[in-house]
Amino acid sequence: MRIAIGSDHGGFQLKNAIIKHLEEKGVEVKDFGTLSEESCDYPDYSLKVAEEVATKSYEFGILICGTGIGISIAANKVPGIRAALCSDTFSAHATREHNNANILAMGQRVVGEGLALDIVDTFLNSKFEGGRHEKRINKITEIEKKYSK
Ligand code: RB5
Repeated sequence: MRIAIGSDHGGFQLKNAIIKHLEEKGVEVKDFGTLSEESCDYPDYSLKVAEEVATKSYEFGILICGTGIGISIAANKVPGIRAALCSDTFSAHATREHNNANILAMGQRVVGEGLALDIVDTFLNSKFEGGRHEKRINKITEIEKKYSK
């Protein structure tokens, strides 16, 4: 499993903790920045990670900002991306099972590190259930098509 990860300055510390956690488990994780706590713009990192996931260079993405909100909103503008903002493990497995989410977003100022690492593990270990959920995902794709130039 190959993971693309990114954050703004507000998610920098948690990003580093997640990279360490995944590497200790033998998961391949590529850091797309930011590389310091200097103030920066979260959409830049949404775009980098979302494009890597949308083109299937990486199976999943993880994005972190202060709240997880801005970085997930921006990622969801990239066709094919279903970025889910999670602050609990129920949402983390439900969004894989029902929404086939391909990016996990979290807020460093919202969740503690221990919970965040559990959310990451839950998200990555859960599988899309297909069936009735597939039809709904297809409707999301139809909305993207309707509004793409
Ligand atoms: C940066 O201060 C903060 O606005 C950003 O990390 C994020 O929370 C935006 O949604």
